[in-house]
Amino acid sequence: MTKIIMKEKILVIQFSILSLIASLIGISFAPIIQNFIDAISKKNWKMFYITLCLFFIFLIINFLFHFLSVKSESHLLQKIHISVKSRIIRSILHMNITQYEKSTVGEKINLFNYDLEVFEQYFLDNILQLIQSSFILFFAFGYLLLLSPLVAFVVFFCSVISLIIPSLLGKKIDALTEKTSRLKSNYLNDLKDIFGGFTVIKSFQVEERFEKRNRSFLEQMENNQQKLKNQNGAYNLMMGTLQYFNLIICLCTSGFLVLSNRLSLGEMVAVTQMANMIIQPLQVFGTSVIEIIGSKTIRTKLEKYVDKIDSPTEMPNILDEPFEKLQLKNVSYESEKGITILDNINLVFEKGKKYAIVGKSGSGKTTLLKIIGGLLNCYSGEIIYNGKNLSKSDEKIRSSFAHQEPYIFNDNLKNNITLLSERSKKEVEKAIRMAKLPRIRARYGSSKFSENGNSLSGGEKQRIAIARLIADQSNLLLMDEVTSALDYKTGGDILEELLSIVDYTIVFITHDLRENILGSVDEVIFIDNGTIVEQGSYSEILNHDGLFKKLKNS
Ligand SMILES: Nc1ncnc2c1ncn2[C@@H]1O[C@H](COP(=O)(O)OP(=O)(O)OP(=O)(O)O)[C@@H](O)[C@H]1O
Ligand SMILES: [Mg+2]
Repeated sequence: MTKIIMKEKILVIQFSILSLIASLIGISFAPIIQNFIDAISKKNWKMFYITLCLFFIFLIINFLFHFLSVKSESHLLQKIHISVKSRIIRSILHMNITQYEKSTVGEKINLFNYDLEVFEQYFLDNILQLIQSSFILFFAFGYLLLLSPLVAFVVFFCSVISLIIPSLLGKKIDALTEKTSRLKSNYLNDLKDIFGGFTVIKSFQVEERFEKRNRSFLEQMENNQQKLKNQNGAYNLMMGTLQYFNLIICLCTSGFLVLSNRLSLGEMVAVTQMANMIIQPLQVFGTSVIEIIGSKTIRTKLEKYVDKIDSPTEMPNILDEPFEKLQLKNVSYESEKGITILDNINLVFEKGKKYAIVGKSGSGKTTLLKIIGGLLNCYSGEIIYNGKNLSKSDEKIRSSFAHQEPYIFNDNLKNNITLLSERSKKEVEKAIRMAKLPRIRARYGSSKFSENGNSLSGGEKQRIAIARLIADQSNLLLMDEVTSALDYKTGGDILEELLSIVDYTIVFITHDLRENILGSVDEVIFIDNGTIVEQGSYSEILNHDGLFKKLKNS
């Protein structure tokens, strides 16, 4: 975070200089008042008029510099705001899937919502307030020292006592903001669940149960927020009372000095004005410190995202060289809970060849394809690509992956196919034709699909996923049951056309065990319970009379 703020050092310096000038101008009000009151008490008309003019000059200059200071502050905040938000999204986009899945969508959205709000209001705003208050405090204290060292000492003593409180309360507020953030994430997650599963809720008429669950999340969140508000309120009340107490002490001291003829009335007013300029910013100082301490946990959480992108290991280098050969050597994969999902997989994929992965549901096919595509990297064993050992580097294969349940972005057909890459009209046309999408294009044109393509059929979404593969122009195509929602004829035709393209190396998962599909692949890989049990050409594994034949005939 400090790095981000320091990146804007010119703006920080500009803001500090303007704050310094603005506080000097603010302080100059006290001597004008002092002279004004002294002019009245001495009936000095000349001085009276001069101070009147000075009041007007003060108003104009004060307005101008405070205006410039506000402008500079908002410009600085805007820059930091953009920088932090874009760094967080960049850091999330560069996570691997395992890291991404460690936090919920609610938690991630909350980073941009409550957590950033806390960062801005509790930290950034307060840092700037601290800069401003420090200048005012410094000048006001210096001037007060000149006017009356005794009052300066009394104000200083009382102020130090007022500053002890924030350091005691800060940690309590930190724990509450952190808990609020957690509860907000749970609440957002529940909302996401309701909106995502809306059709399920409607289909089973369970609206009230979900409403009850949501209410419980809402109440927990609101209760905690209430506690936080109460805590902040109690603190402000305490600081406000102390502010009055400090002012009364200052008035008593300076009144005593006036009565004993050691201060003029004008000086007393100037002293009170200065004391105010110390006491008020000091309260701001205290509030800022408490809020800065109170935002520590959330800042640390945001820093994890913001600072991550500075570390090059988080960004794998995509190997864009043409696919030649990919080898998996003793690859195993365990879930986080230590359950073996893939056990000792040895496979070789060669340029231009076609591979079908088959097996029962839950046997580990998708997990294997994700490891090949570099989407899961917490495996054991080795993956060697064109002679390079990828398990020991941060490099990743350039491949295209079509998932079992394709996601449709809230955009038009073209952008959903190209995924925002630059593609010529001809290339997009080819993808649309091969994925049999001309009717969809005729229906939607360049208009956006509804959220996650809700108005599209399952098969239409799968065809868009296939078009993405074709438009992506990588040599290695990975497909996870991409035709499962299509009728046999359409799905078969699309697969047959893809399998006939010599340039593509294709690894695909299918439950379609028909000869017209599997008969045209170079190798069928049959997985059961995380291990390869049979492997070879379609006729070979069929003749083997083993599990594959049993599955096909079942
Ligand atoms: N991140 C994970 N954490 C825990 N278990 C997981 C994880 N990912 C997958 N699994 C489990 O690993 C097993 C294999 O999952 P996978 O998705 O690879 O199966 P699959 O062969 O593709 O099945 P299907 O044909 O139903 O798609 C399943 O039992 C699944 O529940
Ligand atoms: Mg699967």
